[in-house]
Amino acid sequence: MLKENELREQLKREIIGQDKAIDAMVRAVMVANLGICDPQRPLGTFLFLGPTGTGKSQIGRSLAQIIHGNDSGLIVINCTEFKNPHDVSKLTGAPPGYIGHDHPPFLTPEKLEKKATIVIFEELEKADRALNDLLLQVLERGEMKTGLGTDLSFKNCFIILTSNVCAKEVDQISRNALIGFNPPAEKFEDLDQDAADERIQSVCIGAVEDFFSPEFINRIDEIVTFNRLKDEHLMAILDKFLLETRSRLATAGIATIISEPAKRLLIRKGTNLRYGARPLRRAVREYLEYPLATLVAEKGISQNHVVHVEAEETCLSFNFAKLAAAS
Ligand SMILES: Nc1ncnc2c1ncn2[C@@H]1O[C@H](COP(=O)(O)OP(=O)(O)OP(=O)(O)O)[C@@H](O)[C@H]1O
Ligand SMILES: [Mg+2]
Repeated sequence: MLKENELREQLKREIIGQDKAIDAMVRAVMVANLGICDPQRPLGTFLFLGPTGTGKSQIGRSLAQIIHGNDSGLIVINCTEFKNPHDVSKLTGAPPGYIGHDHPPFLTPEKLEKKATIVIFEELEKADRALNDLLLQVLERGEMKTGLGTDLSFKNCFIILTSNVCAKEVDQISRNALIGFNPPAEKFEDLDQDAADERIQSVCIGAVEDFFSPEFINRIDEIVTFNRLKDEHLMAILDKFLLETRSRLATAGIATIISEPAKRLLIRKGTNLRYGARPLRRAVREYLEYPLATLVAEKGISQNHVVHVEAEETCLSFNFAKLAAAS
């Protein structure tokens, strides 16, 4: 079993700049490990809000990796699939004679029985209220009634709800904070970056209070608004992405050395502070991984090579050298 500090450090290595959310998850895991949670409820329930591409979903995926060592303890439910009231039967099954009764339900007791299963409901606000009603049962008593009248237990699960309920307003504040844009109806021009973050936080909480019922909100253990990612966070996230790329190449026998100017080019190409880390991920693919993979295939390079990655004006260049065979 992981110690509190180890779990926090591992999560911090994976998720950059979101310490509030990490602390909330660590608290919940520690309480669950001690076995002192309410036995009639899930192990922990979280609602994650805030700007796009900042780690709301990734933190759940990373926690599952850390706890289980693979994806076997992770269930991701995309709430856009439940736009109509009858869609929820896809999740839990429909009674005989109803639409969908011949399809196996997505959630089954077996899928949820593993201790510390992490269930992520993505973009909760996109689902019909029927899903909220089912989730309210889960938050209240740790179980939901299936279409077949049986109870599906979530008492071994951590539940993460993510929502982009006020995505437009959040994006507007981010934009204003970045370019000093000043729409006529609102005056954000004096906001510094911290004030913009506080404004995002209060807009998110306000939107959640308008959107979800008080009894729903009241039963969630932790509501966290994620921070916008700033330059220093993107630098650290780039290092993490590059580590992943390099370790994939290393398994193919190719060592990679990436110069500082090359990193700066990737940051320049991949920074769009409105969209979090996704543009950076795309820049790594477009400027590093695709061209490098193409060259490796064209030149037939396999084991025992090193590639030096340098920056040109608008792209990266790659120089391969064969490593001397070990004597
Ligand atoms: N804080 C972060 N630390 C490390 N990586 C991050 C962070 N934020 C985002 N990423 C990277 O960006 C990708 C997108 O992040 P994620 O899926 O968590 O976004 P999100 O906040 O859920 O956005 P959305 O609201 O659009 O669903 C992830 O795969 C991850 O690699
Ligand atoms: Mg997400």
